[in-house]
Amino acid sequence: MGKILRSAVYSLDPEQAHRAAIRALALWGSVGTPLGGGPESATPVTLAGLTFPNRVGLAAGLDKDAEAIAGLFGLGFGAVEVGTLTPRPQPGNPRPRLFRLVEDEAVINRMGFNNGGIDAALARIAGLKKRPGVLGINVGANKDSTDRVADYALGVTKAAPHADYITINVSSPNTPGLRDLQSRPALDELLAASHEARGSTPLFLKVAPDLDRAGLEGAVRAAIDHHVDALIVSNTTISRPPLASPQAGEAGGLSGKPLKELARAKLIEAREISGGQLPLISAGGIDGPDEAKRRIDAGAVLVQVYSALVYRGPGLARSIARALA
Ligand SMILES: Cc1cc2nc3c(=O)[nH]c(=O)nc-3n(C[C@H](O)[C@H](O)[C@H](O)COP(=O)(O)O)c2cc1C
Repeated sequence: MGKILRSAVYSLDPEQAHRAAIRALALWGSVGTPLGGGPESATPVTLAGLTFPNRVGLAAGLDKDAEAIAGLFGLGFGAVEVGTLTPRPQPGNPRPRLFRLVEDEAVINRMGFNNGGIDAALARIAGLKKRPGVLGINVGANKDSTDRVADYALGVTKAAPHADYITINVSSPNTPGLRDLQSRPALDELLAASHEARGSTPLFLKVAPDLDRAGLEGAVRAAIDHHVDALIVSNTTISRPPLASPQAGEAGGLSGKPLKELARAKLIEAREISGGQLPLISAGGIDGPDEAKRRIDAGAVLVQVYSALVYRGPGLARSIARALA
């Protein structure tokens, strides 16, 4: 399985490789992960009343349409976050929109919330035979929406009966104006609407690493005041640390190794601001057990990975989960 996934991921066009990987994982999951895969069992962690079999989750954006959940748990993840899903299907930005920066062990994407719509994904989720780990559903707003808060509230309402937790994603750089929702007044409105819509399902909020101290402080305080269950720090960055790859100038969100320092620094800042009042989930440039341990030591309860799967391969989740056990 590792070889199939790896060669799929490394084949020519990154988006085709991504599709192939999802298909392989979906197929693998549908035949019952015959290699005995499932979440790596480690010391379980409780967060927001949920029991996570280990501390490693898959970050949103890899399985946007909830097509390969069983296969992804089969790689050892304790949690899988699908989405971002919007109320209506949308095609996303024109291609090319996904770039592998091999020299930098990084990815730039400007996918723009391409997804088949939340209803199709929820139908898939409802048909799952078993759910061996924690399933998160990440929601966002349609690009052409005239009422983005209503989009989030609708997404939360629909996702709530199907999700173990819901993530409100206000940090994608690829939907114009979306990140303005990270301001305190916008978050007050958005989180109040989402709080009503969620029922008893835990709600997480995902922020950008490009927030300055005051911006992060506003987001953390809003999250605490509105009883958000955890803050995910962070999404991709629009900043550009020095990069060696020819695709370095592509527009979009940067992830992977060049995001490592920034994401760690923002986690530390969020921990300082929250003073332990808000559980933190760290994402951004985590590429193995050492960095994952640093994030836990810096105050994260859980970690999430995405880009390093491209460079480190499908054994990544298990190796981190074991090291954090
Ligand atoms: C191709 C790609 C697509 C992504 N799509 C989403 C998305 O739809 N929603 C979201 O919240 N984050 C999305 N992300 C961000 C990741 O979930 C993660 O926060 C970020 O990549 C940092 O982690 P990493 O350095 O381990 O990749 C995407 C990332 C990549 C590389």
